[in-house]
Amino acid sequence: VTARVHISGSTQLAAVIGHPVRHSLSPALHNAAFAACGLDWAFTAFEVAPDQGEAAVRAIVPLGIRGLSVTMPHKDAAAAAVDELSPAAAALGAVNCVVNRDGRLEGENTDGDGFVASLRLDHGIDASGMRCVVLGAGGAARSVIRALGLAGAAEVAVVNRTPAPGTQAARLAGPAGRAVDVEASPSIIEAADLVVNATPVGMDRPAVTTPRTPIDPALIRPGQIIADLIVHPRRTQLLDEAEARGARIVPGLGMLVHQAALAFHLWTGQPAPVDAMWAAVKQT
Ligand SMILES: NC(=O)c1ccc[n+]([C@@H]2O[C@H](COP(=O)([O-])OP(=O)(O)OC[C@H]3O[C@@H](n4cnc5c(N)ncnc54)[C@H](OP(=O)(O)O)[C@@H]3O)[C@@H](O)[C@H]2O)c1
Repeated sequence: VTARVHISGSTQLAAVIGHPVRHSLSPALHNAAFAACGLDWAFTAFEVAPDQGEAAVRAIVPLGIRGLSVTMPHKDAAAAAVDELSPAAAALGAVNCVVNRDGRLEGENTDGDGFVASLRLDHGIDASGMRCVVLGAGGAARSVIRALGLAGAAEVAVVNRTPAPGTQAARLAGPAGRAVDVEASPSIIEAADLVVNATPVGMDRPAVTTPRTPIDPALIRPGQIIADLIVHPRRTQLLDEAEARGARIVPGLGMLVHQAALAFHLWTGQPAPVDAMWAAVKQT
């Protein structure tokens, strides 16, 4: 059932900005959450041109919009536009959530915490003490690398096609972080407790056709945890191969739901109705 939004003169507004934004799951997630909590809030999506990110973020002050979710390509622009950055947003140089506190804009980044929350709350997995491998060093990878370091991972090995961003990203995990060459990665992947795909390899996208998995599935062993941040499709070939080999799988939708739950809490001050958010997103 789609959440029905009644908009009046006193309805509070939050929104997502992105380009493209048409397929964003955020409106479904947040309108369901507002409805579940009986809040007179509504959530919409704004298609914002690539060079208009900073202007769009600043515009929420005069408009009185209470908060923004920020998606590609505006996360860096949002970091430049806000008045204050949380420690995560400052370390990552990227903002995925803006909170309008009476005209003062706070920039947050809830992606990495969303991933760790999904591990813990959806799958009962505690990353502390784990040997982790993160594939990729882009925005999503960086947030996960930092969050795994803070969660107490014993090791966060970053494997990236291009070495320099991999080395930089690995530093975000603190002493647990290290960059690993693609050539040296198979033995580390085999030995890892948790492997996270943070590359787009495996997405439903014509441009990414081969390979369909970011690692050789033969490296996966029973009992390992294989996470994929991709949400289109909901279940990638990597996750199918992992499950067939007896690994535990963590699909990307959980990170999306929990980063949104953290944003909901920051905007409204209320605990997020995570079950209602899951129900809404499962219908999409
Ligand atoms: N579940 C969620 O809530 C969530 C949130 C954010 C993102 N995501 C997903 O996470 C994925 C990455 O997003 P992003 O924003 O981090 O992208 P990004 O900033 O563009 O980073 C992409 C990363 O993947 C690597 N890469 C790209 N194509 C590759 C290939 N063919 N082979 C090997 N490595 C490749 C890039 O390596 P180079 O440095 O060598 O270019 C880079 O490290 C996407 O699928 C996105 O949909 C999910």
